[in-house]
Amino acid sequence: MPFAPGDCVKGASLFKTRCAQCHTVGVGEPNKVGPNLNGLFGRKTGQVEDFQYTAANVNKGVTWDENTLFEYLENPKKYIPGTKMAFAGLKKEKDRNDLISWLKEATA
Ligand code: HEC
Repeated sequence: MPFAPGDCVKGASLFKTRCAQCHTVGVGEPNKVGPNLNGLFGRKTGQVEDFQYTAANVNKGVTWDENTLFEYLENPKKYIPGTKMAFAGLKKEKDRNDLISWLKEATA
């Protein structure tokens, strides 16, 4: 199953509970444990300049969009072996659809 548009309100609350301790999304907001995600869509992996990524994240070399994020967020360590992102994954397709739908607006 590829990405399908979801519920942005649910997505916002998923981000708050599952991602916000490590990531910001606004323009010019600081990196936390993970990089600031502003401008994520359409950008290749590992491009936030002042963030120390693993080589694994940089070298993945895919462009982040709805479908690459849909696969990545199910199981980050499987999609990018060697990543230091300590997140087990969102196993439910609906959760990923909701989160990615919100993320696309919030990071633009
Ligand atoms: C415990 C902290 C933590 C949590 C929770 C977390 N992340 Fe991350 N994330 C990271 C770190 C650290 C990296 C950099 C990984 C590397 O360099 O290997 C990262 C990388 C990423 C990247 C790649 C960015 C790029 O520029 O290539 C995306 C996208 C991402 N995270 C999204 C999310 C989303 C969405 C969530 C919530 C579902 C989430 N993360 C939860 C710490 C976290």
